[in-house]
This record gives sequence, C-alpha cells and structure tokens, in this order.
Amino acid sequence: MQKKNHMTDHKTRLAVFCSGSGSNFKSIYQAIAEKTLNAEIVLCLSNRSQCGAMEFARQQGIAILHITEKQFDTFDEFAAEMVKQLKDARIDNVLLAGYMRKVPDAVVKAFPDKMLNIHPALLPKFGGEGMYGLHVHTAVLEAGERESGATVHFVNEEYDKGKILLQRTVPVLAGDTPESLAARVLECEHRLYPDALEKLLTLQKS
Ligand code: GRF
Repeated sequence: MQKKNHMTDHKTRLAVFCSGSGSNFKSIYQAIAEKTLNAEIVLCLSNRSQCGAMEFARQQGIAILHITEKQFDTFDEFAAEMVKQLKDARIDNVLLAGYMRKVPDAVVKAFPDKMLNIHPALLPKFGGEGMYGLHVHTAVLEAGERESGATVHFVNEEYDKGKILLQRTVPVLAGDTPESLAARVLECEHRLYPDALEKLLTLQKS
C-alpha cells in the first residue's frame, strides 16, 4: 500500500459565513467542483436559519450552523462558541460571503490571514460602517465614479480595512441605478471570489 502524503493530500477545509441569498457561496461551491481547487466547503455558518445560503447548503449535504448572539447570555460566550465550532470542524479558512454581522474579534484572531471577505466596491473607497448592500452602490453613483467593482480582502478587526487580496473593476454606465450597478458588480463577484480563493490557496502552499 502506498504511504499517503498528508502534506499534499490535505484539502483546505472551508467555512463560508452567509446571511442572504448565498449567490457567492454557490459560485465558490461550483468553482471548487469545476476547477478542482484543492478545497472543500465543510460548513455553512449563518445568523439566519432560513436564508438561501442555508437552503443551498442543506441541499448539498454541507453541515450548517445557525448561530446568533441572541442564543447566548454574553457576546463573549457567543464568540467562544463560534471559535470552538470552527476548531472542532478543523476549519482552515473562513470565507465571508454576504455575512451581515461583524465577526467577533476572538474569531478573527483565531484565523489570522485565514479569513476573507468580499465587498461590492473598490476598497479602500466605499467601505466601512454602513457601507453595505445598495448603500454602497448609491454612494458610488452619487460620487460620480466612472468605475466600480469588487474586492476580496483579508479580514482584520477593522471593518473593510484588511489587506486586499484581489480586486476587479466594472464600468459605471450612464443611466445606472443602484440596482443595475449592484447586479453588474455581483456578476463580477461570482468570478472574483473563486479566483481569490485560488490565489489564497497558492499563497498558503508557498
Ligand atoms: C455581495 O454583494 C457581497 O459583496 C456583499 O453581500 C452580497 C452577498 O450576496 N458582502 P450573496 O448572498 O452572495 O448573493
């Protein structure tokens, strides 16, 4: 019998955090299936038990974890349980994909340079507190920008301030509404996040 090489065999174990429709989660899942990235999504974590992302995870047989602050007496207990669950599942990397809660600092600290987020604009512009969903695209249009885009960045304790891993632009077109711009950016996100994941896996190998 051939001896297994655990260094090369190990598939990167991913947890994806979501709150919404989960279209980025789905695109990452598809990309892993198609591009044979050496990774697998082993956990979908959400603050909402019934969102599209959780439904998709259930359909694919991916473990789900519905966890919110409200289930605990203190925020610290909530954070500690999140860390425990991620460690118990032997998660290597965490991908935030439309997770609409601030990740507790204890969780961020437990995954230094191992947690990514996607933001629907060209950071460092149009990031930070309050910059989510259509607010981002409204701000981009009000600023008269000629291009927008999406950014995948490492997560640190400061909102949208971690090191940028990958960024891609899309044009802002005459007559754009926040909704039309959001749709164009989201389409871009669906290619960007899998590419960023590939880049992360390559960086982690070297
Ligand atoms: C995306 O626009 C992402 O950039 C933002 O939230 C949205 C999530 O969409 N953080 P989905 O749930 O992946 O469809």
